[in-house]
Amino acid sequence: MPSHAITNIGTLVTNDPSLGPGPLGPIQDAALVVEGERVAWVGTSSRAPATDSHRDAGGRAVIPGFVDSHSHLLYAGDRTEEFNARMSGLPYTAGGIRTTVAATRRATDAELTARLARHLREMLRQGTTTVETKSGYGLTVSLESRALRIASAALEEVTYLGAHVVPPEFADAPEDYVALVTGPMLDACAPHARWIDVFCERGAFDADQARAILLAGRERGLRLRVHANQLTAGPGVRLAVELGASSADHCTHLTDSDIDALAASRGRTVATLLPGCEFSTRAPYPDARRLLDAGALVALATDCNPGSSYTSSMPFCVAVAVREMGMTPDEAVWSATAGGAAALDRTDVGRLAPGSRADLVLLDAPSPVHLAYRPGVPLVAEVWRAGRRVVG
Ligand code: NIG
Ligand code: FE
Repeated sequence: MPSHAITNIGTLVTNDPSLGPGPLGPIQDAALVVEGERVAWVGTSSRAPATDSHRDAGGRAVIPGFVDSHSHLLYAGDRTEEFNARMSGLPYTAGGIRTTVAATRRATDAELTARLARHLREMLRQGTTTVETKSGYGLTVSLESRALRIASAALEEVTYLGAHVVPPEFADAPEDYVALVTGPMLDACAPHARWIDVFCERGAFDADQARAILLAGRERGLRLRVHANQLTAGPGVRLAVELGASSADHCTHLTDSDIDALAASRGRTVATLLPGCEFSTRAPYPDARRLLDAGALVALATDCNPGSSYTSSMPFCVAVAVREMGMTPDEAVWSATAGGAAALDRTDVGRLAPGSRADLVLLDAPSPVHLAYRPGVPLVAEVWRAGRRVVG
């Protein structure tokens, strides 16, 4: 198999797993060798083995491709007006989801497929090489399963979110909707998904409903993630930890006992923070510092969706997390790469070590700190996925 080296890397972020969660495991004046889809070797340039070809990084930094472990890309329509109204002082509520449900129900398969492809391309250009996305804007058996079919043709990390909100036609009979989500809808969706998620929140699903939905999904072989504590300090985080979910997402409003529970899970349940959401809803930012100091494992993701967070940019999330959430640049870069991988139970991405998938970003900067130091600047010069240069 031909080997290719990237040499003269100013700083190579490895997220070396032998160092445990957190440290970037940086190598200065580094080289990285790719064979096929995999990383074959990392180390200092002077020790690099001979390869069939090589490319000089010119002293720039290389980091693992971003792992965006939370997005909602199967939708149609637009919520510009809702955003405008919020920026004039109205609060965000879960009710806006129904606007997108109405538009998505009218959309053709081709429209959903094209929009997904456009967003994935946009993410790739910004350095994201692994993406999770969800259903949740169809809320019927056929429309949830169609969304998941479309997603699974493009992505590995696909999540069934039939329990996003109770759709209007079930407003008077929410328990009947839970029965649908845990019955026929689950039957139709489980073959196309790896994960099940539930929006556990006032105005969406309470703890008992969420537990029933998650357990039904687990019975069908799906892994668990939870939209938790986004709008209120509700039961979502504790439920996620109790059930051993891989991720509790949002974590905007946390009690001390929520933080203790996440820390006590010892990384089994990752706290996935979504700064684009607080940015776009003017909600308070989650306190990443408290979570990290308590010993919780933190991931960063975009939550890209047309309502609460219409950004697809992981560099943006890194910059906001550093400025507003008490993270250091190193912590934010780790959380946006290795942290996202942990939230998806993946060990082949989010790191650059021998054997891992050769997903990487060459930055137009000497160090990954520049992702926070130079907010809004397009620093992604090249993106490689599975050993192939796909951007730049
Ligand atoms: O993660 N919280 C629930 N779901 C999305 C919002 C979706 C929407 O507003 O359309 C979220 O923020
Ligand atoms: Fe979400």
